[in-house]
Amino acid sequence: MDKFLIEGGKRLEGRVAISGAKNAALPAMAAALLTDQRVVLRNVPRVRDIGTLRSLLEELGVDSSVTHEERGNRVEIEARRLITPVAPYELVKQMRASVLVLGPLLARFGHVRVSLPGGCAIGARPINLHIKGLEKLGAALKIDHGYVDATANGLKGALIRFDTISVTGTENLMMAATLAQGETVLQNAAREPEVQDLADLLNRMGAKIEGAGSDEIMIQGVSRLHGAEHTVIPDRIETGTFITAAAITGGHLILEHCNPDHLTAIISKLSEAGVRITCNSAETASRVIEVHSNTVFSAVDLTTQEYPGFATDMQAQYMALMTQAEGTATITETIFENRFLHALEMMRMGADITLDGRRALVRGKTRLSGAQVQASDLRASACLVLAGLAAEGQTLVDRVYHIDRGYERIEERLTRVGASIRRISEDRSLPFPLSHSSRTSPQSARSLALSVRCESPQWQASPLGGV
Ligand code: EPU
Repeated sequence: MDKFLIEGGKRLEGRVAISGAKNAALPAMAAALLTDQRVVLRNVPRVRDIGTLRSLLEELGVDSSVTHEERGNRVEIEARRLITPVAPYELVKQMRASVLVLGPLLARFGHVRVSLPGGCAIGARPINLHIKGLEKLGAALKIDHGYVDATANGLKGALIRFDTISVTGTENLMMAATLAQGETVLQNAAREPEVQDLADLLNRMGAKIEGAGSDEIMIQGVSRLHGAEHTVIPDRIETGTFITAAAITGGHLILEHCNPDHLTAIISKLSEAGVRITCNSAETASRVIEVHSNTVFSAVDLTTQEYPGFATDMQAQYMALMTQAEGTATITETIFENRFLHALEMMRMGADITLDGRRALVRGKTRLSGAQVQASDLRASACLVLAGLAAEGQTLVDRVYHIDRGYERIEERLTRVGASIRRISEDRSLPFPLSHSSRTSPQSARSLALSVRCESPQWQASPLGGV
C-alpha cells in the first residue's frame, strides 16, 4: 500500500485542471449496458474506481476500450453480448458503485445476480431502496448466499417514492425504467448534478426522461436504446477539495474546466468562512474558479445535506479547514452515520475536536503538527492530505489507495502548484520518526533519500472495501 509523505507549510500557487466527475462517469458506464450499440464517454477521470468498473464489465463479457485524451480518458463500451449476468463479491466489495449494473442488466437481459456490497467505513449503506424500487417495477428479487438475485419478464412502469434520498438508488431505477413498459415516476429523487448528467446521456441514447435535477423524475419507457456520445461533467468534489487546498495554504489557485453552478453551497460556505473565491460566469465549456486566500478564517457551522445542500463528500475537507479557523465550528453529518474517522486522525496531529454522535465540535485555530496518519475512505484521505499541507513538519498518510479511487494523480497535481508531497512505496523502510520542524534535518534527509521511492499510482484493485 502506497503512502504520501507531505512536508507542510508550502503555499499553493498556479492553475489546476479539474477532472471529470467519478460519480457521473460510473453510472454513465453502467448505462452503456442498456444498449448493444457503442457508447462513447469523454472526460472520464483516470481514477481507480473507473478501472474497477471496467474489470466488472469485462467479467460480464462486455468490451470496452480506453484512449488517453487531452482532458481525461475516452472510454468506449459496446455491450453486444453478455457472458454472465453476475457481479461477483470480489469486485463489488472493492467498489459499492458496482451495484449500478443491477438496474440496466435486469432491464435489458431480465436476469442479474449482484453481490450485496455490505457495510463500509462511513456507514451501513444498505441497498434496500434499490431492491424495493425494482420490485415495484415488477422484478422478483431474492437474497441468497450474499447475492441479490433479480429476474423480470419485462419491467412495468410504476410510481416509486424513495423513503430516503439515494443517489445511486435514483440512478439505478432511472436506468431500469428507461426500458420498462409505460411511465415511471420517481418521487423524492436525488437532485445531484450526476443524476442529471446520467439523464442527459440516457436521453441521448433514446430514453424519454424529464425532470432530472428535480425531486420528481418522469420516465416514459421505450423498447430499445441506441449508442451515443457524452462528455462527463466536471468533478464538483474535486473542485471543492482544490479550493480548500488553496485556502488552507493561504494560496492562490485558478481551477479550470470546472462548473461553479454545481458548487453553490460549497462556495457559499467557504466564502462565509473567509475564503476569497471568484467564478467566471461567462462561457460554459471551460469555466474557471479563482481562489485567493490568506490563512485567516472564521469558524462557521455546517450541516451536510443532499444536493443542493452542502455535500457529505466535502465534509471531511471542510473539517480540515475549520481546524485553522478562529472559533468553534459545529459540523453535523446527516447523510452517513460514521463519517468522522478523519477527525480522530487529525486529533493525532493536534486538532481540537470533540465528537458527539453525528456532531463534531472543531475548535480553532490549532497548530497542526505532522504525524503518521491513516486514511479510512476516499474523502477522509483528501482531508488528511489537506491537514498535512497545513501542518508543521512531515505527515505520512497511509492507505492512499483510497485517494487513488477518486482523485487523479493528486500528488502530481499538488506538486505542480507548489506542494511538497511524494508517493512512497510500502516495501521500503519508512523514515519515522520524522523531523518535526518544517525543515528536514541532514540526517532525516539522508534517511529519506535511502528509503523513499517515488512511484506512479497503482491502479490495481485494492483488497479492502470502500465507498
Ligand atoms: N440508503 C438507504 N438505503 C438504500 C440506499 C441508501 O438507507 O437503499 C441511505 C444510505 O445508507 C445513506 C443515504 O441513504 O445514509 C444516502 O446514500 P446514497 O444512496 O445517496 O449514497 P450512494 O448512492 O451509495 C453516492 C455517492 C457517494 C456519496 C453519496 C451521498 C456514488 C458512486 N457515490 O453514494 O460518494 O457520498 O451518494 O451523496 O455516486 C464518494 O464519492 O466519496 C462517495 C462516497
